[in-house]
Amino acid sequence: MQVIVSKERETVELLRSLDVLICRKNERCRVPEADKSDIHGDQPAAASKQGKADHKELATFAFQRTRMPMVVSDARQPDYPIVLANDAFLNLTGYSADELLGKNCRMLQGEETSRTAVAEIRAIIAQEREGTVEILNYRKDGTAFWNQLHLSPIRDDEGQLAYYFASQIDVTAYRKVQTLEEAERRLLLEVDHRTKNVLAIVDSIVRLSRSDSAAAYAASVQQRVQALSRTHMLLADNGWQQAYLHDIVRLQVAVFGEDGVKIEGSEVAVPAQSVQPLGLAIHELAANAAVHGALSRPGGRLHIGWQRQGDGIVLEWAESGASPPKTEPRGGFGNVLLGAVLERQLGGSVTREWREDGLRLRIELPSLDRVGAKLRSNP
Ligand SMILES: Cc1cc2nc3c(=O)[nH]c(=O)nc-3n(C[C@H](O)[C@H](O)[C@H](O)COP(=O)(O)O)c2cc1C
Repeated sequence: MQVIVSKERETVELLRSLDVLICRKNERCRVPEADKSDIHGDQPAAASKQGKADHKELATFAFQRTRMPMVVSDARQPDYPIVLANDAFLNLTGYSADELLGKNCRMLQGEETSRTAVAEIRAIIAQEREGTVEILNYRKDGTAFWNQLHLSPIRDDEGQLAYYFASQIDVTAYRKVQTLEEAERRLLLEVDHRTKNVLAIVDSIVRLSRSDSAAAYAASVQQRVQALSRTHMLLADNGWQQAYLHDIVRLQVAVFGEDGVKIEGSEVAVPAQSVQPLGLAIHELAANAAVHGALSRPGGRLHIGWQRQGDGIVLEWAESGASPPKTEPRGGFGNVLLGAVLERQLGGSVTREWREDGLRLRIELPSLDRVGAKLRSNP
């Protein structure tokens, strides 16, 4: 350290900041203020007599040896440069002492750091108070980590802000667990919701299926429940996210026969919530064709085609080579269900036309992810 004699106040300040020992003319050399401490630390929460005597040195050991990253910034210098950092802080951030000292801690922030979190820290410091903020930071190698930053002001003997102390906890793993737990909770809610929907459909099937005999009733209920089960497996194979329309249609129709059946249409991914209702509607149509229509006789043909229309689809169901039923089937569960599922649940419309050689059907679904009210048990 150099010793300089000066009278000028500005020069004194400047030299002080350059770590120069200042002596006034005709005065004994004074130790510069920076070397004298005008701050006195908190008393330990518990200390024996010996502990008290060694308290300062022990505190230094503790600061250095703790596994919690810690840093101190000088609040009397512009932009709060780092003046102290422990090993844990260097380990956490990947920077060396040289790279950190004299810099502001904002060097840990980056592209994805929330501006709101930075503003929160700014407010804490401006109000010279204690506070905690979770903020996304980056190590020297660019990897991101979630930093639970705790800030605490250190005042001098006059009560003026002298330093800011901060400790950092890497909460990345904790946040990951939280995100997973949240995803799991959403999944359970979704499973609950879907199970209730399926049970509502099963309830409708059981209560509304009509047959002349108990055996026929049991068979029709079983067929419909099996249709649900097939779609369920298709959804499971697709990770419960969606299923392709082609697969939904083929799966339900193939059960009743594949001869004379043509399925064609662009690739349409049906969102999970619409897969069950759509699968059941196709089952009803195919089962009907197998009893009364094109799939009930040799030479009968069934053409199922669709095209996209806006967010939805238009599906054409065309049977040929099948004589029309003597009376139009009305009011049976098949028709009730088609109305309930396609119109009420999926918000679509169905146009039926009984031609000379078979049924023509046009199903318009304006939006594939618009599942309205749950299938009502009293359609
Ligand atoms: C002692 C101390 C430690 C700090 N540690 C961090 C830190 O670990 N991570 C961080 O993103 N910001 C930290 N900050 C906050 C920034 O240094 C800065 O105050 C903040 O970005 C708001 O100021 P700005 O808007 O000028 O950047 C710390 C601040 C102080 C005073």
